[in-house]
Amino acid sequence: MYSEKVMDHFMNPRNVGEIENADGIGEVGNAKCGDIMKMYLKIENDVIVDAKFKTFGCGAAVATSSISTELIIGKTVDEALKITNKAVAEALDGLPPAKMHCSNLAEEAIRAAIQDYRSKNGMSQKESSEKEDYITCCKRCEDINHDID
Ligand code: FES
Repeated sequence: MYSEKVMDHFMNPRNVGEIENADGIGEVGNAKCGDIMKMYLKIENDVIVDAKFKTFGCGAAVATSSISTELIIGKTVDEALKITNKAVAEALDGLPPAKMHCSNLAEEAIRAAIQDYRSKNGMSQKESSEKEDYITCCKRCEDINHDID
């Protein structure tokens, strides 16, 4: 059901933890499904030089958090903003259809952390319209089994 990559990133998640004095912090999630992702970014000259996460959630949420930190380290903030939940899932060699929504957490956490970074630095960023889609999606999470928790 899960790819080897998903299982690897779930069993051995990369970049777990916090960054002290992070330049951007994003927290997304839904109390109903209990899945929460917090992303910390260290940014120098608009390049993400470090990323760490803490995720309380299903196995797919942990795996997508882990791979998303690997995807964004070394990228500019603009490049990181282009990373979609689909790209995160593809980097894991796919997710089962019923777990695709879990990858929304990673995309939204990246966006939220970058938004935090930009607002701290006086740059405005339009609120993502996908955020509403994410919340709508995550309301369904309570109906989905957390099968690798
Ligand atoms: Fe995986 Fe909600 S994010 S079940």
